[in-house]
Amino acid sequence: MGWENRSDCHVLVIGSGGAGIRAAVEAEKYGTVSIISKTITGKGGCTVMAEGGYNAVLAEEDAVSVHYEDTVKGGAYLNDTELVEALVSDAPSRIRDLFNWGAVFDLTEDNTIAQRPFGGQRFPRTCYAGDHTGHEMVMTLLERLRGSGVEIHDETTVLELLKDGDRVIGAVTADRNGELGVITADAVILATGGAGQLYDVTTNSTAGTGDGYALGFRAGAKLIDMEQVQFHPTGAVYPADSRGRLITEAVRGEGGILKNAAGERFMEKYDPARMELSTRDVVARGIATEILEGRGTPSGGVYLDVTHLPPEQIEKRLPVMLSQFLQFGVDIRTEPMQVAPTAHHFMGGLAITKDAQTTVPHLFAAGEVTGGVHGANRLGGNALADTQVFGRRAGISAGKCGRFAKSADAAVLSAIEDKISRLYEGDTSVSSVRKNLKTLMWNNVGIYRNELDLKVAEREIGKLREKRLKISSPQEIAGAFITENMLCTAGLVVSGALLRRESRGAHTRTDIKQKWTAENSPFGHTWFVGQKAGIDIVETNL
Ligand code: FUM
Repeated sequence: MGWENRSDCHVLVIGSGGAGIRAAVEAEKYGTVSIISKTITGKGGCTVMAEGGYNAVLAEEDAVSVHYEDTVKGGAYLNDTELVEALVSDAPSRIRDLFNWGAVFDLTEDNTIAQRPFGGQRFPRTCYAGDHTGHEMVMTLLERLRGSGVEIHDETTVLELLKDGDRVIGAVTADRNGELGVITADAVILATGGAGQLYDVTTNSTAGTGDGYALGFRAGAKLIDMEQVQFHPTGAVYPADSRGRLITEAVRGEGGILKNAAGERFMEKYDPARMELSTRDVVARGIATEILEGRGTPSGGVYLDVTHLPPEQIEKRLPVMLSQFLQFGVDIRTEPMQVAPTAHHFMGGLAITKDAQTTVPHLFAAGEVTGGVHGANRLGGNALADTQVFGRRAGISAGKCGRFAKSADAAVLSAIEDKISRLYEGDTSVSSVRKNLKTLMWNNVGIYRNELDLKVAEREIGKLREKRLKISSPQEIAGAFITENMLCTAGLVVSGALLRRESRGAHTRTDIKQKWTAENSPFGHTWFVGQKAGIDIVETNL
């Protein structure tokens, strides 16, 4: 194998969703920038698929302090408060950037950006473009990239980060043909998104395989709260091939109501004050409980009903939902949808400072690959804001890194060559390992967890890691490395879930009786650094 394919840049951005592109746009002000995308820049990832909206305080009657409080309460008080402060204070400026760059958001009659209610927020502060908000944002960001000097490497997968001593100095890559490459950089930004693909049922695109968690972990970075996986309450359940697809929270924001098979508006039992606009952890548990206790629909979901809304409201505000369901043979203007929880967002991830610095020098991170901003449960609409706020901050911090001489360690490159040679001699298909992992995670590490199931998951993931993955062509190299990333990330999720002996936010342990609430919990972050893992114990008034 040759390593002729080498390049160098000032800032290397890994990932091409909302956070990655925003970071690249900013970093370019400081020097040369390359984006590596394992899909097509702007087409893969979750931002482009995001429907509902972007939270920002824009109205005079709203306040940044209220957005802060909603976020921390919604996050079950596990949030890193410095990061929340950055999120809520920058979110308005970052949406104005997008607006000024031409993003077409829905407007009020006064030509200001329209906002709708989303769960867990005391003010309707979710800005939107119909129900295709993420798509509008990414198209706008791509326009900023067009004509810039940012070099784009599409359909290219990072196999490993390169280090020189403590410092990250670039990445080893494989393109779609399996051609290997080395890109060195003064600073690297991980913006690789989440890992919904660890689960059988997910809203995530195929790109959501958790690569950044695994790459950062192997590079020695600290990760926190990996057990905190958000199940979006409303994923499609019918037809089978659309299972898990996002049914936006905007449906409930517009007035949609949830009913069980008996026609009961069951959220009255779980959160009578906020009903369907409770936080996602509460709504997802409510739906899951209705289904588990036998009050689900024949397709295994509950009903989400907007038939009481004026048809024009559905047509104007939820056009994607309307046309998507029409394709499934359901007219949501006259019939209810059927929905059930689906793996959606990882709240845990790489620990960062408010300037997006990880614990490893010259390695930055932004977006879903980071942990701490959303605590134990993210508010709908805070993820798109997160991508822009921390994407920009990461771009600035990385851009400001000094230049230095870098060269890839020959031993690392030859270890990768050896690993690839072993893959050709393997005996287990990548697809079978992924399928087993996804079923295991769905069954044992879902909304309701207990020690027994988690221990089984731990053992089975261990066995899957021992399998000798097999490839038969260079084009399959990336898939095998990604599968190892999935196994690594799944292992972190399970370890975190075992460490967190409490129910908090999205993480519910049915085997633990606790006397504390989230606010006075004796536990802080779970954390992972290399071979070490633990959970912070915090002072409590218990
Ligand atoms: O429901 C949604 O539209 C998703 C939004 C989000 O995850 O922020």
